[in-house]
Amino acid sequence: MGNIILEAKSISKKFDERNVLNEVSLSIEKGHFIAILGHSGSGKSTLLNVLSTILTPTNGEVLYNGKSITRYSKREIANLRRDKIGFVFQHYMLLPNLTVRENIFLGAEKRDVYEHDKTDMSEIEKLSALLGIDKYLDEYPYKLSGGEQQRVCIARAVAKNPEILFCDEATGALDKDNSINIVKLLHEIKKKFGTTIFFTTHNREIAKTADRVLVLEDGNIINDYMNDEIIEPDAMAWGI
Ligand SMILES: Nc1ncnc2c1ncn2[C@@H]1O[C@H](COP(=O)(O)OP(=O)(O)O)[C@@H](O)[C@H]1O
Ligand SMILES: [Mg+2]
Repeated sequence: MGNIILEAKSISKKFDERNVLNEVSLSIEKGHFIAILGHSGSGKSTLLNVLSTILTPTNGEVLYNGKSITRYSKREIANLRRDKIGFVFQHYMLLPNLTVRENIFLGAEKRDVYEHDKTDMSEIEKLSALLGIDKYLDEYPYKLSGGEQQRVCIARAVAKNPEILFCDEATGALDKDNSINIVKLLHEIKKKFGTTIFFTTHNREIAKTADRVLVLEDGNIINDYMNDEIIEPDAMAWGI
């Protein structure tokens, strides 16, 4: 029990009277890299959004560290999201009028972004070095390639040291080399900080790098397995 960070108990989500998730139950162990594998429209984003507090389930419960958040107030949900949860999406969504450093600082959610020069930046600098973006800290996002911008998004999400990182098709807009690099970096983040990673994808090769794979079809988990052999991101055969 102590190792379970997140649970879903029979969660359903309806849109316009149509069930997009059908009574999904699962437990997520701390420190795992979990791939949610499924075709487009299978419900991956909806599942991620319900688990990450962005959407409220139509039925069922979501529990963080054994506590149901169903009856949390808006403020409690906001605090949970701020303190424990990081997000990386397919589209980078960096603020174009802030530098890379300010974007990352904003993710750390510490005071006003313009206070950053008074704050100890060494953590953000170390994290940026780990992600290979330290030389861009004082640039604006438009100067960076897609892969570099996605690494800034990871830095922004990880800066506050979240317990769990939700990545929705985080490599969906990237080419093969950049995708492999992002997957590799997420594995490094997991190892270094013990972050639990929840990664939706339609790419079977990425799923092979995960500790555990949940296969989603029409809003149902049709398969849930631990990978016996975990493939290193560099060794992915990469068929799409
Ligand atoms: N806000 C919404 N309103 C209505 N239908 C939605 C909404 N979000 C998702 N859907 C539908 O739910 C199904 C699952 O969508 P989604 O979770 O985005 O799947 P995936 O991420 O696997 O592609 C799709 O049929 C989609 O059209
Ligand atoms: Mg999706």
